[in-house]
Parts: sequence; C-alpha cells; structure tokens
Amino acid sequence: MKIIRTIREMQEWSDAKRRAGATIAVVPTMGYLHEGHLSLIDTARKNGADTVIVTIFVNPTQFGPNEDFACYPRDFEHDSRLCEEKGVDVIFAPEAQEMYPEDSSTWVVEEKLSKGLCAKTRPTHFRGVTTVVSKLFLATLPHLAVFGQKDGQQARAIKRMVRDLNFPIRIVISPLIREPDGLARSSRNKYLSEEEHRNALSIFRGLTKLKADIDSGRTDLAALLAELRASIEAAGGVVDYIEAVDAETLEPKTSVEGSMMFPVAAYFGKTRLIDNILVER
Ligand code: PAF
Repeated sequence: MKIIRTIREMQEWSDAKRRAGATIAVVPTMGYLHEGHLSLIDTARKNGADTVIVTIFVNPTQFGPNEDFACYPRDFEHDSRLCEEKGVDVIFAPEAQEMYPEDSSTWVVEEKLSKGLCAKTRPTHFRGVTTVVSKLFLATLPHLAVFGQKDGQQARAIKRMVRDLNFPIRIVISPLIREPDGLARSSRNKYLSEEEHRNALSIFRGLTKLKADIDSGRTDLAALLAELRASIEAAGGVVDYIEAVDAETLEPKTSVEGSMMFPVAAYFGKTRLIDNILVER
C-alpha cells in the first residue's frame, strides 16, 4: 500500500492507473477509521472498483470556529493498518498547506441541499465539504466515489454538485453502519461517556419505532416526529433538529408518502450526533 502526500504525485499515480485500464474508487475520510469507513471500501469493490484510494484529511474548512477541529481524533498508524488489511491501494493524506495554499480564494458552493438541517447550526460546513471533495476528486481522478448514508445531507449535496458541475464520477451512497447496540458509527462516538452512549441509543430506538409505526400504517407525521423528539429528550438528549424530508431532494415532507428520510441531530453532553432512517411509502 502506498502513502501519497502531494497532489501532483497522486494525480500522476491515478493517471497511470487509468491509462492501464484500472477502475478507481475514492473513499474520502477524515481518518480515525471504523467499521463504517471499512464498509465504504467494500461498497467500492462491489461497485466495480479494482483500485481503491482512501483519502485521510481532517479538512479545516468544514469546521466552524467553535467546533472540534483541533481535537478531532487522529490516529494515522491505526488507519494505515486497517487500510493495509483491507487491501487499499493508496492512502492519500496531504497536509493542510498542500490542500489550501495560503492565498486560496476559491470555493465550491452547492446552494440548495446544503441549506437547512445541519447547515442551520453549521452554516459554513457544506461549502467546506463541497470544496474539499472537489479538490480530492481532482487529486485522485476516480471513476467512482463512495459516501456513507450516515451523513445523508452531505451525500445528497455532493451528488448534486457532481451532477451540476459534470464531474465524470459516479457517486455511490453506502448504507449506514451501526455499532452492535444500534448507535450509528461515528468517529465522534469516542467523545461519549458510557452513560451518554447509553442515552444516545434513544435516537436509534426512536427512529426504529418511527419506521415500524409508518410501516404498520400510521400517517400522523407531526405526532410521529413529536414522539421521536420526546423519546430523545427523555433520555437527556438536546435535539438540534428532527425532520421529515424527501430522501433525494431533502425538501420537507408534509405527509407520509414516497421516499422519505428522517434525519436527526442531537447533543448528548457536548457531543453532537447525527443519524437518520430511510422509509419508503
Ligand atoms: O464525511 C467526511 O468524513 C468528510 O465530510 C469528507 C467527505 C471526507 C470531507 O472532508
């Protein structure tokens, strides 16, 4: 497995692979890899990739001024061991100054799906994501890119950006992966105390109940959302948002119909967790 730190070397490596007929997938990450990330690598292979690049870059531009950029967990040794075991071909791990020249003044902004939900409390987050993902695409030159359903809004915004800007890259959204007890896998779960972790399971329990209720015929959307909120609050969670949206466009839903996504963001202690469930009607 190769570790590449510069954009030039990454582009040259991918260019040579493409000319040799490889199908390249990129799995963009911020490192501190867990089962969720590893499942993205499996999804890449299932979707025809014979060459997998994992990018590891804690992207400063997607963190707000009072967020956890400085203390975001990092463990490159652990990450590279997992990637090696998974048969990853390259880790692309640039330094911040390689990705962002000091006088960098260009952003890539998606203006529709990047509004609402997480953007309400993280107003500059998605322009950081779409900008860095564009840069990672241009460095790694992949045929396909895999993102997790856990960051449902991010995945939709990136899909839209790729469509709008004609990136010749297929975006694959991989299912959300949970810990054995149901908590959505996230590098930020590390911040939770045991008690906060237990309490945070209320998100998964509430989402599962909501889906079961809809599957068994309930259509009272406002009451369903209120019950979900109440169950998270009863466990000590502070809800940032709970919504019912269209699973592709993220437009708010006013009735139970079609392809729906129910995204949730809630704080347990200082840790902000996100989760969601897809429901088809
Ligand atoms: O999902 C993430 O880890 C990040 O937002 C991403 C896509 C790697 C961009 O920094």
